[in-house]
Amino acid sequence: MADTPRDQWKSKLGFILAASGSAIGLGNIVFFAANAYKFGAGAFYVPYLVALFLLGIPVMIMELGIGHRTQRAYPEAMYQLGGIKGEWIGWFGLLNASVITMYYITILGWVLGMWIGAFGSLWESQAVPAFGLPEGALSNSMSYFFGMISKYETVAYVVIVWIMNAVIVWSGTKSIERAVKIFVPVMWLFMIILIFRGITLPDGPQGILLLFTPDFEVMKDFEVWQGAFSQIFFTLSLGFGIMATYASYLPKKSDQTSNALTISFMNCAFEYIAGLAVFAVLFAFAIVPRASTLSMTFFVLPEGIGSFPVGVQLFGVMFFTLLLTAGLTSSVSLVEALGAGVIDKFGMDRKKVVLIVSAIGTVGSVMFALPMVIDPSLDGNGTLGLTLLDFFDHWAFSYGLLICGLLECLLIGWVLGPEKLRESINPHSRIKLGPLFDWMIKLVIPAVILVILGFSIASEMSKGGLYGSTVETGTMQNLHVLVLAGWLVFTILGSMALTAAGGFRRNGSSQGGSDA
Ligand code: PHE
Repeated sequence: MADTPRDQWKSKLGFILAASGSAIGLGNIVFFAANAYKFGAGAFYVPYLVALFLLGIPVMIMELGIGHRTQRAYPEAMYQLGGIKGEWIGWFGLLNASVITMYYITILGWVLGMWIGAFGSLWESQAVPAFGLPEGALSNSMSYFFGMISKYETVAYVVIVWIMNAVIVWSGTKSIERAVKIFVPVMWLFMIILIFRGITLPDGPQGILLLFTPDFEVMKDFEVWQGAFSQIFFTLSLGFGIMATYASYLPKKSDQTSNALTISFMNCAFEYIAGLAVFAVLFAFAIVPRASTLSMTFFVLPEGIGSFPVGVQLFGVMFFTLLLTAGLTSSVSLVEALGAGVIDKFGMDRKKVVLIVSAIGTVGSVMFALPMVIDPSLDGNGTLGLTLLDFFDHWAFSYGLLICGLLECLLIGWVLGPEKLRESINPHSRIKLGPLFDWMIKLVIPAVILVILGFSIASEMSKGGLYGSTVETGTMQNLHVLVLAGWLVFTILGSMALTAAGGFRRNGSSQGGSDA
């Protein structure tokens, strides 16, 4: 219930580990490097750093400030700050995040499958009957991956990962803190070992050089900027309601500007060094990644590790353990943000909520693990599950997160007034926010996000349609339209229904309105 004493982090360290654990995830280890590779390596850094300072850090401060000020999970926090509109934005953000949670956990299920494989069969060639491919037709890791996702065994992996998530959020901050105190150090340690391995490979350092050679030509391409801005939101776990929820478990006296800087710095440092390891391995073995970011995780890097002169299994297991721990500390933050939203609104028992959220989430994740082969060419996504994942990711990741960030800024900027947020942040912070912060939230960030969204839509339209009709035809196109409709109904109508469902507004726990 809203009136029961609120859960709190036992220590500041616990909070920092949990929040940085949320930020550091698959995004840091593979998506960053894959994006950087796609956009010409060194060319990516400048837009990335601009995005970090222009968008990432201010929005991080704002999201932490929202949770810290209200001491409530995201939807109720947004309600307190901006009334019904705010609550709707809160649920929209959480529902969009829940789509991402579902497929993020499916990907973690595959990571678990690869982890098991890394003890042996991942490094051997095998036939992939579902795709009609004989032994030796694909590289070892690729044949393992496509063999795996075209079998129902992945459903079991997905269920196991959901159970792990449920166990970790079972007792709220207490159990989350316990888990991150083990997982976060493990993930840093393994990353550092892999970097040393990467840079001591012959030619490894040349790969790193590639990462540091800026290419100003590529920066004229709008897509690089869009890539960098979406990446910043995703990697810092912004636009998910997570940071607000985690900050709502902090004591009133905590310093949000320094928290925001610490989390952002830890996240970007991790991303940076992960980039070094990935580029070193790629360059050392002259591997050219294919376009998809998932292929980087599942076959490009394993291919590199498979070529190590010694310790293939050891480094392979280490790599997938790294992905699993980094991914779990991110996925639990999503599950917690969702669960906390429901707990705060409906006053339900935490354990019941964890069970309900996990049951619904498992169904969604299983959908993304459906193994029927619908695209046997291997240039596409192969299975039905992976195809759905790709389509939903397009909307929830490339658009949903930025839309949530935009609405959040508009609400805080124009309904509450950012100076009110500053008033609750500044008294406890060493670095004081000035009026520049207000203008960032009111104008600069919304304008930047609008330009990015506008250009993305225009560029998709110029390629033939909002659902990628240049590459997709017939059934695929229909499926994508269906996914778009599903995403819109789920996020927009779902958030309306949840907002309308009553709850905390009746128990008088909030002041409501814009002047809270
Ligand atoms: N920050 C995570 C990453 O970089 C992405 C993420 C955010 C995943 C929130 C889950 C929840 O991988």
